[in-house]
Amino acid sequence: MDKLIFELRGPEYDLASAEVRAVLEGLNIEYSLKDTSKYVTMVESDCDVLEVGRRLGLTHRVLDHSFVFDDFESCEVEIPEGSVAVDTRRVGGMDGDSVRVRREVGGWLGNEIDLDDPDHVVLVLISDRYYSGRVAFVVDKGRFKERKVKNREFFSPISLEPWYARALVNLGRVKEGCNVHDPFCGTGGILLEAGLMGLEVSGGDVDSRMVEGCRKNLRQFSVDGEVVEGDVSDTIPDGVDSVVTDPPYGRASSTGGEDVVEVYRRLFESCSEKLNEGGYLSTIFPEREFVEMGEEYLELVESYESQVHGSLKRIFCVFKP
Ligand SMILES: C[S@@+](CC[C@H](N)C(=O)[O-])C[C@H]1O[C@@H](n2cnc3c(N)ncnc32)[C@H](O)[C@@H]1O
Repeated sequence: MDKLIFELRGPEYDLASAEVRAVLEGLNIEYSLKDTSKYVTMVESDCDVLEVGRRLGLTHRVLDHSFVFDDFESCEVEIPEGSVAVDTRRVGGMDGDSVRVRREVGGWLGNEIDLDDPDHVVLVLISDRYYSGRVAFVVDKGRFKERKVKNREFFSPISLEPWYARALVNLGRVKEGCNVHDPFCGTGGILLEAGLMGLEVSGGDVDSRMVEGCRKNLRQFSVDGEVVEGDVSDTIPDGVDSVVTDPPYGRASSTGGEDVVEVYRRLFESCSEKLNEGGYLSTIFPEREFVEMGEEYLELVESYESQVHGSLKRIFCVFKP
């Protein structure tokens, strides 16, 4: 089996690592975790790197034929035939002699070195150890930037940036062809990511302005999906595979004056009734107490905290029935 290194996007490295594992689980891919560190996740798996890589939001690159070393004692390295260029990146603010790393690793490889037009790029991530391998997939940040909140036809600051929305969808262990519903769809950031991953999407929002705006944004990126006006307790379809949502936090986004506790309660009740066996609720709360409240209705699978700014935090969490 090949060893793959996923170079994680910070600062929420735990969340990024969880996304990698959730994608593998969602695609039913066998894997085992190897020398994982804060900045990289390393797995042994025979997966199709392209299939996995193009789903990810919080990864920079995927390396295959990977190798890890701690010093410059010779290391066993196997890169497929063809010319190579060795590149380095420091991660996590680590120091390291990049010139020496490139020279030593270049010497270990049997391949011809070609810095101008190599067949393969071997990347060494300089961290607490040297995590290295052939660059097999680079996450296309440009495509995410096209969908940044400010670039959508209908704009509202309440929306998640697309790489976080993508991670939230992935945490729902979405399978090929499954249906994803967002009952607090707002401007549609989550539905855009799920739709562009080829999943069947639908949404709901209590605010008619959001419903119209969400439809407009889905059209802008050629995503099909039904979006209806309604309360969270009414829009989630029976037998849904995945509910992925970023509910109101009771601050900037409106609940029409209702206490968020009641809104969250209806979310949990509906999910416990309507989620398919094997389905997931992947969501975000501003406080730990709401995660605990969810455990009264559903089983908590995992949770990750992210400090947005000042007093605003986001707890990404995943539940199952
Ligand atoms: C944080 S925003 C969602 C942002 C969304 N992920 C996006 O990309 O724009 C929360 C949304 O929940 C909606 N909402 C508030 N209370 C609701 C309720 N009881 N049922 C359904 N939607 C509600 C608000 O109108 C708002 O659009």
